[in-house]
Amino acid sequence: MKVGVLTGGGDCPGLNAVIRAIVRKGCFHYEDQFVGFLEGWRGLLEDKSMPLDLASVGGILPRGGTILRTSRTNPAKKADGLDKCAATLQKHKVEALIAIGGDDTLSVAQKLHAKGVKVVGVPKTIDNDLAGTDYTFGFDTAVNIATEAIDRVHTTAEAHNRVMVVEVMGRDAGWIAMYSGIAGGADVILIPEQPFDIEKVAETIRLRHARGRYFSIVVVAEGAKFSTDLDPRHDAPVLQSMVKDEFGHAHLGGIGNILAREVERLTGFETRAVVLGHIQRGGSPSAFDRMLATRYGLGAIDMVHRGEFGCMAALRGNKIVSVPLADAIAKNRTVDQEVIDVAYGILDKLSAEKEAVEK
Ligand code: F6P
Repeated sequence: MKVGVLTGGGDCPGLNAVIRAIVRKGCFHYEDQFVGFLEGWRGLLEDKSMPLDLASVGGILPRGGTILRTSRTNPAKKADGLDKCAATLQKHKVEALIAIGGDDTLSVAQKLHAKGVKVVGVPKTIDNDLAGTDYTFGFDTAVNIATEAIDRVHTTAEAHNRVMVVEVMGRDAGWIAMYSGIAGGADVILIPEQPFDIEKVAETIRLRHARGRYFSIVVVAEGAKFSTDLDPRHDAPVLQSMVKDEFGHAHLGGIGNILAREVERLTGFETRAVVLGHIQRGGSPSAFDRMLATRYGLGAIDMVHRGEFGCMAALRGNKIVSVPLADAIAKNRTVDQEVIDVAYGILDKLSAEKEAVEK
């Protein structure tokens, strides 16, 4: 069978591991042939491709980025864009397409599927916010990078008696903030799902320092929002720019610096901000992500041969299963209560702490 492969949206550690697994299983077990479409959906719109064979996937397992490169191109926003994509697949005699991406990329895959294209999806994003699967690949690597950064920030915060604010990625969901914040022993964790009151953040830090601690660590997801009506930034994420990509997303970032300024103003403690940004997306995938990405790649090529189109390979429990693309893109998967409870369990509860200080 001739199978097309593309990677779309923001890059993510493990993309190459997925491509490698698809091609190896396809070549070794199914006698498939492959064509890689370059730069996400742009490759189908503009007919940009490269041959994908065993040689081209040699040595790519530990490599970050994607040998197919990527973009945030949205064919549904261009005149006849989806038809052009289908025509390119026909021209290359591609019988099935594997699209590796997050909700944006997979929403295009779903639209093409509705037009009769045989598509299988693979869930990718460091944000871990895709529904239908327990984990997306790339998330574990991002959490490891963020946790290491928090550990490093800890020692310098301690040395200088400072509050350090660490801004991590997470547009709509605070998975990276929660996991790295808990793993890194943060004192305050702020996520998009729960708009925060800056006075309460300041009070938490003040009380912690009143108890004798002389430094604090705050982890904030880039999409976190101030809750207080009094604040002009009420209930909207902080943006780097108003320019939106083809899927309608503005460029987020900057909450860390604003927060650091406010914390210093309200508490009087010297505060610094660190923005991790794309460091979380770059470099070699963790062993966990290499394994997960490999399993997703194998799952996707098996799904192609079982004819499970319009579906995505997903992790449920410890099994790779097939779920409808429609379910995966229906909503964002926000941080679940169980994880929030872990944070509540180990973080200081403001009122309890206040009582202790007053005694
Ligand atoms: O990959 C998802 C994500 O990491 C978001 O958390 C972030 O807002 C976005 O990508 C930034 O991506 P870029 O700078 O590549 O547009």
